[in-house]
Amino acid sequence: MKHFVHLKDIPAKDLRKIIIDAKRRKKLRSKISTLEVDKGAPLKGKMLIQMFEKASSRTRISFYMAIKQLGGGTLTLRSNEIHLGQGGESIEDTAKILSTYGDGFMIRTDSDDKVEKFKNFLSIPVINGLSPSSHPTQVLSDVFTVEEIKNKPISKLNICWIGDSNNVLNSLIAASVKFSFNLSIGCPKNYEPRQELRKYIKKNNKRIFIFNDAKKAVKNADVIFSDKVISLNDKVNKKKKVNQFKNFKIDKKLIKYAKKDCIFLHCLPRGPEVSDEVFLGKQSYVWQQALNRVHVQKSILLYCFGKLR
Ligand code: CP
Ligand code: NVA
Repeated sequence: MKHFVHLKDIPAKDLRKIIIDAKRRKKLRSKISTLEVDKGAPLKGKMLIQMFEKASSRTRISFYMAIKQLGGGTLTLRSNEIHLGQGGESIEDTAKILSTYGDGFMIRTDSDDKVEKFKNFLSIPVINGLSPSSHPTQVLSDVFTVEEIKNKPISKLNICWIGDSNNVLNSLIAASVKFSFNLSIGCPKNYEPRQELRKYIKKNNKRIFIFNDAKKAVKNADVIFSDKVISLNDKVNKKKKVNQFKNFKIDKKLIKYAKKDCIFLHCLPRGPEVSDEVFLGKQSYVWQQALNRVHVQKSILLYCFGKLR
């Protein structure tokens, strides 16, 4: 059994194995309907318990589809409907109960500490479905999407992030170390990645390029990523923050500074950081990106359950 909590803690070769498996499985499903089970039903009889302490559309649905397609099932809990969420039960006791009933646990939470505690007390794998510091299932799937569209290893591409230094960017930085790709970041000065992350990058002999000018950041980019300026856990003056990002809007004018065949990706939900014209335009692959979560999460589940071939 393996946990899937932060990309930085997972060996690069395992991440690559997950992507290879997802590619093979996706190909095999081209003519199969949504809930038909993959040949061999590798997770037959397994139950994934999902717990959401905050909103989710894509992660919730894609994990449901993923485990179903592997022959298993899922139960979705809202934390405010169980004893833990009401403060009436310890994480340790809840974790033991989850391990008794279920085979895997996916959690979306506002607390990294909670994910760690679950990891310590569960005897089943835990998957981080978004925490304040990381969104690993999203970003591994995004690496898959980039390679699928560009038809080359991500290590040969220039990746650019325009936006906040949030959980998705943290995972993208970890991915840039694991998959060795060039990463440029465009954000206002006071929203640059934290020292702790910079230390991680340095320790791994990697460089990232940070620009406080969006045009410089997107120069030569093969891929531009973005995400909401205001994340679910952001307790900031929203109006002020959005205003500080006003020069980092991804619109047609900005995208012209990137390579001609540059693609645009965004994990959704979206906000004012991107124009409709770009988001819905020819260079945007956001719907394919969202669908690929199903395929990659299937291989993540197999990895966690020790069934990845
Ligand atoms: N991208 C993503 O994780 O979407 P949800 O918040 O809808 O799950
Ligand atoms: N950074 C965003 C990602 C949403 C999928 C958030 O944490 O809300």
